[in-house]
Amino acid sequence: MFEISKFGKKFSQDAGILSLMDDLGKANASTGKVIMMGGGNPAHIDSVQEIFREEMKKLTSEESFKQIIGNYSSPEGNPWFQKVFAGYLVEKYGWDISEKNICITSGGQSSFFFLFNLFAGEFEGGRFRKILFPLSPEYIGYSDLGLSNHMFVSYKPKIELIGEHYFKYKIDFDSLKIDESIGAICVSRPTNPSGNVLTDSEMEKLIELAEKCDIPLIIDSAYGNPFPGMIFSDVKNFYSPNIIHSFSLSKLGLPGLRTGIIVADPKIVRIVSSLNSIVYLAPGNQGQYLTGEIFRDRQIDNLSQNIIRSYYKSKSEFACGLIEKYLSNTVYRIHKSEGALFLWLWFPDLPGGNRNLYERLKQRNVIIVSGDYFFPGLEEDWEHKKECIRVSYAGNSEDVEEGIRILSEEVIRVYSE
Ligand SMILES: Cc1ncc(COP(=O)(O)O)c(C=O)c1O
Repeated sequence: MFEISKFGKKFSQDAGILSLMDDLGKANASTGKVIMMGGGNPAHIDSVQEIFREEMKKLTSEESFKQIIGNYSSPEGNPWFQKVFAGYLVEKYGWDISEKNICITSGGQSSFFFLFNLFAGEFEGGRFRKILFPLSPEYIGYSDLGLSNHMFVSYKPKIELIGEHYFKYKIDFDSLKIDESIGAICVSRPTNPSGNVLTDSEMEKLIELAEKCDIPLIIDSAYGNPFPGMIFSDVKNFYSPNIIHSFSLSKLGLPGLRTGIIVADPKIVRIVSSLNSIVYLAPGNQGQYLTGEIFRDRQIDNLSQNIIRSYYKSKSEFACGLIEKYLSNTVYRIHKSEGALFLWLWFPDLPGGNRNLYERLKQRNVIIVSGDYFFPGLEEDWEHKKECIRVSYAGNSEDVEEGIRILSEEVIRVYSE
């Protein structure tokens, strides 16, 4: 085999996201029945797909078709889409932005690759800065995005116990240390994996800290508001010159179109668009063309706030009900399900740990994700890391029920063995 550079080795080592996407791919390709509760694939909601199918048909008209498949977009995205998107946010939230604040990328994942490496890593004068995740657990996909090693730092949360079987994470502001070594703060809201939604007051404190330290606060709204709208309560959506928002079309039901949208200061937009052109010349056209009209005529609000949100809210209630039914005699806790498409389950003192539970479930053709992957930047040993798992409830109801039934059987066995 040819000799591989450090870069190649770094990006092909045992990455959590790689094993997750591997399992996802294998499960999708498998001929036997596999219950996939592992990945972050959004549900195939018929009424949502119908809307996109109709839009897709319009794109086959001669002029659109030529534009979409035959032309590169500008590196920062199509100007008309940037304008429509900015106009939508201005009307909805009154944010002080224009098309100059919008940059399209090839999906949220690539947005984060660019953003993290802009604000962390090596700096002039031999300084090194990191991305701070103020609340662990956080998204598995952040873990391996750094071009340098040790680019992330994170803190344990406060845990609020709710009744016998629920809990909620809170940022432990007393322990956060933000000094010269922090280049940006990043949160996903709702949080993948826990389904936590940081409260408005937590967000206000983070914004204040970011402003005080003159660093950006990156808000990952992959599941958030205004679209795809997978937040089950009313919360505010913030913008200030220190905030960088990352949106994505994926969880609307379009992960195959690989479209991310960054809202940021125009200077950041210019840098990201330059990265776009270096890495892939220009972002793809299809996502922008397919959804442009849906943003322009504000159909996006009905789609997100009514169809998608109520779909996932009722799926979440259904999945919590199943856990309560099948695990009634066991010690378990569910993170309060406030958004996204996962249940985050905590099994205190889980014998054998979560990797063992993952393997046992895989043997029974149920794929979940072991929770220990979701602590990027949290170096310290913490039993909690080995006691949690993430379960997606986006699949069809029969699969979700069967998956949770098998999961419960294994959990009960593990505790009793
Ligand atoms: C929290 C979070 N951020 C970002 C992404 C990246 O999504 P995409 O690259 O499909 O936009 C995901 C995907 O699952 C996610 O869960």
